Amino acid sequence: MRLHRAGRWAWLTALFIAPVLAQPLPGRLQLCDACHGPGGNSQIAGTPSLAAQPVIFLENQLVLLREGMREVPQMAAAVQGLKDAEIRAIARHYASQRPAPPRGSPDAALMKRGAALAGKLHCGSCHEADFRGREQMPRLATQREEYLVAAMNSYRDYTRKGGDTMMAAALYSVSDADVKALAHYLVHTR
Ligand code: HEC
Ligand code: HEC
Repeated sequence: MRLHRAGRWAWLTALFIAPVLAQPLPGRLQLCDACHGPGGNSQIAGTPSLAAQPVIFLENQLVLLREGMREVPQMAAAVQGLKDAEIRAIARHYASQRPAPPRGSPDAALMKRGAALAGKLHCGSCHEADFRGREQMPRLATQREEYLVAAMNSYRDYTRKGGDTMMAAALYSVSDADVKALAHYLVHTR
């Protein structure tokens, strides 16, 4: 009886489910991985990791990038003409990848300073207490540190085209040294 049931499921899987799962993700994914790293864990300075980012954050950013509302010149060709369905598939793919542990080891003084700042500025109220992100709010934990510094500076200094004004407000008058401490703390919090 058991075997018979299992057999019936195997038959259903082979006929209907497997072909759907086997459909290849857009070939462009290889292009994305070339910069964003295997499985979306970046090994290139200035290029963010995408692994485990919330689906909605990835979809939003890819639409902004495709429409040129967020400008990343080196990515323009990669996102040109991406269909909405491809964006959804790419977002689901990277959201389900396992994030690599952060580079380097935490510095106690920077961790303490970063934690105090993040608490005072309520960063976790949007990005979650462990900074794994949610909905349109990106994951910050395990991200590349120098990328977080650059991203925060660009919000604070209004140089991120298409950047959310909430983030400019969150970082209003935060000093360069405090941005560095925040980035260090966020990357190493798990
Ligand atoms: C030539 C290198 C390159 C290629 C190819 C590339 N990207 Fe990027 N991407 C970047 C860089 C660099 C940034 C960060 C730019 C910045 O400083 O804001 C970025 C930013 C992003 C972001 C925003 C992430 C965040 O945390 O804000 C997403 C999402 C993204 N890329 C997805 C993709 C996808 C999907 C593809 C393939 C279709 C792709 N990228 C191809 C270099 C690349
Ligand atoms: C009110 C909600 C909110 C608060 C509070 C907030 N953020 Fe954000 N943050 C966002 C949203 C939404 C985005 C995506 C913005 C966009 O689309 O450009 C973001 C983006 C970011 C990014 C860009 C990451 C990437 O991958 O591109 C960084 C870094 C960041 N936040 C750090 C912080 C820090 C540090 C604090 C505390 C000082 C903070 N945020 C407080 C909502 C918030």
